[in-house]
Amino acid sequence: MKCVVTGAAGFIGSHLCERLVADGHEVIGIDCFTDYYPRWIKEHNIAGLRPRRGFQLWEHDLSAGVPLELVQGAHWVFHLAAMPGLVRSWHDFDSYNRHNVTATHRLLEALRQVPTLQRLVYASTSSVYGRYASGDESMPTRPSSPYGLTKLAGEHLCRVYAEAFGLPVVILRYFSVYGPRQRPDMGYFQFVEALLTGGVIRLTGDGTQIRGNTYISDCVEATVRAATAMVGETFNVGGGELVSVAEVIRVLERLTGQRARLEYLPPRPGDQLATGADVGKLTRHTGWSPRTPLIEGLAHQVAWQRSLLQTGAIALRKAG
Ligand SMILES: NC(=O)c1ccc[n+]([C@@H]2O[C@H](COP(=O)([O-])OP(=O)(O)OC[C@H]3O[C@@H](n4cnc5c(N)ncnc54)[C@H](O)[C@@H]3O)[C@@H](O)[C@H]2O)c1
Repeated sequence: MKCVVTGAAGFIGSHLCERLVADGHEVIGIDCFTDYYPRWIKEHNIAGLRPRRGFQLWEHDLSAGVPLELVQGAHWVFHLAAMPGLVRSWHDFDSYNRHNVTATHRLLEALRQVPTLQRLVYASTSSVYGRYASGDESMPTRPSSPYGLTKLAGEHLCRVYAEAFGLPVVILRYFSVYGPRQRPDMGYFQFVEALLTGGVIRLTGDGTQIRGNTYISDCVEATVRAATAMVGETFNVGGGELVSVAEVIRVLERLTGQRARLEYLPPRPGDQLATGADVGKLTRHTGWSPRTPLIEGLAHQVAWQRSLLQTGAIALRKAG
């Protein structure tokens, strides 16, 4: 298949591209290297991909319009490009609007002109549900941050184009993805970095927040299966095991052999209190189920972050 992956240099996008190339597909990656986190980390994510046969990366901002040559002949399009994370979305709304709404619109406009298209998989988020995101896809969508709101707007844009022009859309709502290459703004990355470097873990809330975490390879497997899932459907993608943030820190203490130094901060506006995906629908439709136990997934993430530290990459990030 000819695949297009937007957000290809990001955490999930780079893993997805690797999987698709390994499966023998031709992959066009698109990324504009937003400044959400440093470019060198994204370059690091795709360093192994760049020389691979079957992979090409186009540096392009989708919100500026999508030239037809980038998507011409595509069979599967995976739209992962976005401004993620909720904190910045309160004070930088224009960037979220541009990268999550306008960019999605421009992509959809281009895809109208691609008759080969078999699926457009849109990477959405549990944040469309809002503060309580425990359940199945029938939960009400009440985003509690501008981030969630712009991602929900992207979902609706996809639906509108599906209804008006027959675009073959499938929507995935990811729940807290973790593992190697996790974004440096994400909680587990910061917990592990603090544990490995003797830093302080700044915990927002009291640690009782419940999370249903998704290991990266399970997330990628679900995303690949979505490319043949029933058109028009929306699926939760989550890890199955529910844990509190405090329990995760205890597991990370064991894995790193270090005692956490904690500083408690007030919850951030828009923080989700509980996330736990009911993934029964995705299992029924595609046979997918999460495979990676939390302890194993966290061990992989710790090993990866150790290697980042050993290569001095973290120091480079701090310097730059
Ligand atoms: N990581 C998670 O836990 C999680 C959870 C729920 C949903 N998601 C969704 O999954 C997707 C990927 O998330 P991630 O964690 O890999 O984020 P990421 O920031 O690592 O990757 C997103 C990539 O998109 C690129 N990008 C942004 N705007 C673009 C534009 N206009 N044109 C081209 N490229 C652009 C960025 O440069 C970045 O490399 C996002 O859509 C996000 O909303 C992620």
